[in-house]
Amino acid sequence: MSRVPAPVGDRDKTATRLLGSSSKNSYDPLLDIDWDAPVVEDLAYLPFERVSLYGTALWDQMAPAQRIELSKQELASVASTGLWFEIILIQMLTRYVYHQDPQAAHTHYALTEIGDETRHVIMFAKALSHLGLRAYRPPAYIHHLARLYKATARGPALFAPVLVAEEVTDRLQRATMNDEAINPLVRMVNRIHVVEEARHVRFAREEVARVMPQLGPVARFVSNTVSALVAAVVVHTLINPAVYDAVGLDRNAAVRAARRNPHNHATRRWFGEKIMAFLDEQGMVTWSSRPLYRLVHLI
Ligand SMILES: [Fe+2]
Ligand SMILES: [Fe+2]
Repeated sequence: MSRVPAPVGDRDKTATRLLGSSSKNSYDPLLDIDWDAPVVEDLAYLPFERVSLYGTALWDQMAPAQRIELSKQELASVASTGLWFEIILIQMLTRYVYHQDPQAAHTHYALTEIGDETRHVIMFAKALSHLGLRAYRPPAYIHHLARLYKATARGPALFAPVLVAEEVTDRLQRATMNDEAINPLVRMVNRIHVVEEARHVRFAREEVARVMPQLGPVARFVSNTVSALVAAVVVHTLINPAVYDAVGLDRNAAVRAARRNPHNHATRRWFGEKIMAFLDEQGMVTWSSRPLYRLVHLI
């Protein structure tokens, strides 16, 4: 991959445009989703080809209802990781605006994004409840390491892992929102999220592109390594191993099958395709970070 960073726009100009778009095109999930609609039971929750075991011998042995149930549990796990990282982002954006000019457009946009993410966390949590699902939690050590990260991250180490989390889920959500084989509530939630995340992605990409050229070699090394580490943890926690227990599979056998599944690796690379090209352009995929991205099959 070549490294040709695109020119960066003025941050307040971009923020003004994003604020205009936010005021015209934002959703209130409490009002814009029909929470009284009956739950459709017999449709998939993720495209089967994006389920972690798709293409394995284990998958071939599963009954159609069990495949649907696994797609449902994996959707719950991905949504849980997503909302967990959104709560992390809310704290990081609050720390970010603390240092900014309260009258500047980019500060107003960061505050608007905090509002978007607040609604998203509630939307994902309500959707899980509506579908009769419990939110999955990351392992305790990741929960506690994330406390350190969200209390200290700044610059590209703040925005690059956010981009990985947002763009990976965005790819999956875009693939479902117009697919009639997918549960309608899931499609509606995904459609709302895709619209609002497109603005977050623009804002975060420009922040990375603006700050990266200003960093010296040590700060670059720290940013690149921390970003890759956090991104790898996020991708690693997307599918909680407990999803396999929930559908009556042997957890260890299923985890092993998913980890060795070339189809699952291809899905991860598909998740990472756009964002990894961007991070590479920005000089964030280097000798210290590339092995971490490889480990989780983002490249
Ligand atoms: Fe979000
Ligand atoms: Fe977001």
